[in-house]
Amino acid sequence: MIEPNSAASLSALLSAAARAAHELVDRPPHLLQDPDARALCALFEPSPLSYQLAQPEQPVLATARISTAARAGFARAALERSGLTQLVLLGAGLDSSVSRGFEIDTWVVDRPEVLAWRAELFGQAGITDAAHPVPADLAADDLLPALAAAGLDVTRPVFVAALGLVMYLTDGDLQALLGRLAPLPGGSRLVVDSIVPAALRDQAGRAYADAITGSIGGREPWHCTPHPDQLAGWLQDAGWRPEQLPIEADWVPEPFWAANPQLGRNRLSVLVEAVRC
Ligand SMILES: C[S@@+](CC[C@H](N)C(=O)[O-])C[C@H]1O[C@@H](n2cnc3c(N)ncnc32)[C@H](O)[C@@H]1O
Repeated sequence: MIEPNSAASLSALLSAAARAAHELVDRPPHLLQDPDARALCALFEPSPLSYQLAQPEQPVLATARISTAARAGFARAALERSGLTQLVLLGAGLDSSVSRGFEIDTWVVDRPEVLAWRAELFGQAGITDAAHPVPADLAADDLLPALAAAGLDVTRPVFVAALGLVMYLTDGDLQALLGRLAPLPGGSRLVVDSIVPAALRDQAGRAYADAITGSIGGREPWHCTPHPDQLAGWLQDAGWRPEQLPIEADWVPEPFWAANPQLGRNRLSVLVEAVRC
């Protein structure tokens, strides 16, 4: 059994736990299914699922769960509509939920130690991970040459998803990263989620941000929480035209909220789908 505190990325482990818990504690229609996350959580003692299972309505845990499932569900819906056959997950952590069930070539980018940990855990859980690992520091490394070296065809459109990543970069790092993705061909798509600045959060969103920055924030601090208009501007400057930019809770389909009236809707994050012009 593995100790959760030994995680190479605690935020990645808690994201996997949130996705795994979603199907176990929320009523259908679910936003996502993630059997791999459940198998990964089973490797740990104490289980990273235990808080979620014990207190599913606790606001911070419920927000983490719905937000993590919603961003992956949003990415899957956009990926399906796109028809693209190359997927790049930036800050992939332990996620295999976006590509699950799609016939698609996938590249996972994260810090070297996180990808090594991912491979070890997937192996121990008996999960086949067909994704190509691309170790990189997304705040510094030149991404497209590394992806091309790992087999990505950078002359064909690519679907890029960066879920739960933006807040760990600085404003400058994010703008530089968008610029480094700019050579991707027209028709490429980019999906990101982003925490809104404090002034735009509601009370529940502020409480969530305070709880997270006070707990795992010391290990993985938040930096970049741009205003949605500023994020849209950075995307446009780098050649990405935003097509939709909803508040995350507004994207979650109404039947889910109707089936789960005990859960609150927060103003905490936006989801963005952009296309390379
Ligand atoms: C909250 S986790 C999200 C993981 C996954 N996308 C998900 O939704 O489950 C954030 C991930 O971003 C990665 N990350 C943060 N900063 C990074 C950087 N500068 N370079 C590469 N990866 C980074 C972390 O290692 C971690 O795996």
